[in-house]
Amino acid sequence: MVDENLKKLVELYEVGELLHRSLLLVDDDVPNLDVLSAVLDSDYKVFQVDSGAEALKVVETTPIDVIISDQRMPEMTGVELLERVGKSHPDVAGIVLTAYTDSAAIIEAVNRAGAFRFLTKPWEADDIRVTVAQACAHVYQRRAIARLVDIVSVRNEELALALQDLEEAQDRMLHMERLGTMGRLTSGVTHDVRNFLMGLALLEEECHEQGVGGEMKEIVTVSLAGLRNLMGTLEAMRQFARGGTVEVSLKPVAPADVIKDSLTVAKMDLEFRKRNVDVRVQDGLPQVNGDRQRLVQVMVNLIRNAVQATQPGQLMTIAAITDLDGHVLLSVEDEGKGIPADLVDDLFEPFSSSKGDEGMGLGLYMARLTVESHGGSIEYQDRPGGGARFQVLMSPAERSGGMGIQ
Ligand SMILES: Nc1ncnc2c1ncn2[C@@H]1O[C@H](COP(=O)(O)OP(=O)(O)OP(=O)(O)O)[C@@H](O)[C@H]1O
Ligand SMILES: [Mg+2]
Repeated sequence: MVDENLKKLVELYEVGELLHRSLLLVDDDVPNLDVLSAVLDSDYKVFQVDSGAEALKVVETTPIDVIISDQRMPEMTGVELLERVGKSHPDVAGIVLTAYTDSAAIIEAVNRAGAFRFLTKPWEADDIRVTVAQACAHVYQRRAIARLVDIVSVRNEELALALQDLEEAQDRMLHMERLGTMGRLTSGVTHDVRNFLMGLALLEEECHEQGVGGEMKEIVTVSLAGLRNLMGTLEAMRQFARGGTVEVSLKPVAPADVIKDSLTVAKMDLEFRKRNVDVRVQDGLPQVNGDRQRLVQVMVNLIRNAVQATQPGQLMTIAAITDLDGHVLLSVEDEGKGIPADLVDDLFEPFSSSKGDEGMGLGLYMARLTVESHGGSIEYQDRPGGGARFQVLMSPAERSGGMGIQ
């Protein structure tokens, strides 16, 4: 009677037992109950009660598959009983017995109580057996479908979670893959840049020997500084792609020198020269324990971002000061368009960029790694009135040995 495919699904999903093979017989005429029970009790566990109120109690405490109730009972009719049971236990099937061809009760039984079947008295034993078996199959089906729907929805959630894990693993792999590619690429580029650098260094020497000065010498010197900085960046990228860290060699460094070198490199960018740049270096700043070249790279990255976020003529402030706790703050502030809202949370993570092909999204990531390798920190704030402010926070170098003060 039960669909074979459904049975297979029930087995496959290990739904468990669905039928208790238990029946509840309800009739105010107790001898009727005994007769009915005699027909069914060899195949089912049979419970008997003589009123609707009693039946409701049994349903609350005992697992029941099918209720067979007489229609005409004082206080509560069979239809009323099934209607109430249907509200709390919709999976239980009801069969109504009625002594007459009482069409009103029959229609009610089907419509209001959702009764599975009605049977007229006097009933035939075989009819009862077949009807109860069909009712049980109906109950099985209802419960099976409900449980399967539950299981499938849980599995769906599990699947969604597993899928999310997979996606994250894939992202990590992609990340490692990109880093590997970056490492290989930078090795190649470093080679070319080194050749360039050597050529330019020779040119500088030549200028010196030949007594070439003025603008020509200036161009060579500035270009050389830029190339050295680029070499440093490439080297840091290569190291980082290998081990995920940036090596630094720490020595006492004057923050003013970091700013000076950063400006030398930044000035190679024509766009930078079109900005209204305000440089503020506090007098008497303590030295920091730092890798001058790496710190310059950090500042150059911040400055480059600020240039890219602003228009010609807009203000950019580059500063080195101490805060109230005596930390040294190196900052770059601009009145540009500010950080896109969707990037704020991942700003210092790799490959977070709004620049498409124009940016790798590595500048701030490398800056953070570098600053953290110095034991410092880098933070971002919205600039009041629009724009962005990045600041690098570092502890002053130990003052012992007289190396701390400029
Ligand atoms: N001063 C700034 N103003 C506005 N947005 C900024 C600023 N600095 C960084 N951003 C935003 O943060 C993103 C990440 O910056 P990051 O320097 O890490 O990468 P990038 O500049 O996109 O690429 P890369 O530096 O690798 O060439 C940028 O794409 C930009 O959207
Ligand atoms: Mg950048």
